[in-house]
Amino acid sequence: MSDVRVAIAGATGYAGEELIRLLLTHPTVQLTCLAASAKRERPVPASELYPRFARRLDLAIESLDVDRLARSCDIALLVLPHGMSMDLVPTLLKAGRIVIDLAGDFRLKDPAIFERWYGKTHTQPALLQEAAYGLPELEARTIREARLIANPGCYATAAILACAPLLRAGLVERDGIVVDAKSGLTGTGRKAEPDLLFAEMNENLWAYKVNAHQHAPEIEQALAACGADGAVSLCFVPHVVPLNRGIFSTIYLRLSRDVTRQQVEEAYRNGYRQAPFVRLRPEHQWPRIRDVEGTNYCDLAFLVDGPRRRLIVTAVLDNLVKGAAGQAVQNLNLRMGWPETTGLLS
Ligand SMILES: NC(=O)c1ccc[n+]([C@@H]2O[C@H](COP(=O)([O-])OP(=O)(O)OC[C@H]3O[C@@H](n4cnc5c(N)ncnc54)[C@H](OP(=O)(O)O)[C@@H]3O)[C@@H](O)[C@H]2O)c1
Repeated sequence: MSDVRVAIAGATGYAGEELIRLLLTHPTVQLTCLAASAKRERPVPASELYPRFARRLDLAIESLDVDRLARSCDIALLVLPHGMSMDLVPTLLKAGRIVIDLAGDFRLKDPAIFERWYGKTHTQPALLQEAAYGLPELEARTIREARLIANPGCYATAAILACAPLLRAGLVERDGIVVDAKSGLTGTGRKAEPDLLFAEMNENLWAYKVNAHQHAPEIEQALAACGADGAVSLCFVPHVVPLNRGIFSTIYLRLSRDVTRQQVEEAYRNGYRQAPFVRLRPEHQWPRIRDVEGTNYCDLAFLVDGPRRRLIVTAVLDNLVKGAAGQAVQNLNLRMGWPETTGLLS
């Protein structure tokens, strides 16, 4: 069987670099095009920009041209700033390509909600309806058939994986879910900003976009579909911490009735029986960011506080892997009918 040709637009960013790392060891994929902005005067050999890929990657990074991108590949992975892919996707789909978009452009179904949270009018509202939400643990069936897959946000992945089985089993209330989340610095992208300087970040920590982060409606949308009762309301407070990688979310939920640890465990086991990348920890074993660093796993642990009718869950993942590039490869595997874990376990 010949390799599937894959192109990456946004190959010079953190998530793009991680995609290259993963796809270089993928057994059935060939990288055929790497693109970024037009700020470089000439195509730059990828191994010049990333010496760690020397002798493994014989491609140059060129400025993005959507027609050339479409010609070069069977599957296009878009790892661009929010708001760019919606204008590229129609050309790629028309050329018969499959698209996996890692930005927020196609995650929300309602164009008005997109506009409110991303501050832009959506130019392709019909494609919002068509796009599959690329969370394999919840949406494998639609991902397998989709020509456009919207890879979830990193914070959203952790929060949804932590809450979905609980809501499906009716163990927790649908309102008042509090997500307190921390992210490593690569979550902000490879950019020069005063707040991101070493001396500002080191030994420091702060909250940002408090109850105003664009992953909040994405989490609410996905969780609303879990269980029969509809809407979910969320308080979401993200923080940036002085780590390179990682998402650490602590989630506080209200129990809907008397619930035992065993019932919660059962809900997770039922929810993730077929999910190779979700690991539930035994009682009293709380996951750490380093446990998942460089991997596609999301590790979960929980505590039932019966007297206060509260459930506390921690969810930990690597923002660049399960939160971005690894999840995109998992989606690619599903879409191509390959084992879900292909290229993701080494
Ligand atoms: N970082 C994460 O943890 C993470 C997790 C989940 C999802 N995502 C999403 O993935 C996307 C990329 O994130 P990132 O962190 O990798 O960002 P990043 O490090 O800032 O990289 C952005 C990429 O987009 C390219 N780009 C910017 N403007 C362009 C233009 N006008 N034309 C063509 N290419 C352009 C950049 O190329 P130049 O080098 O030429 O500027 C770079 O390759 C974002 O939508 C982000 O929300 C990121």
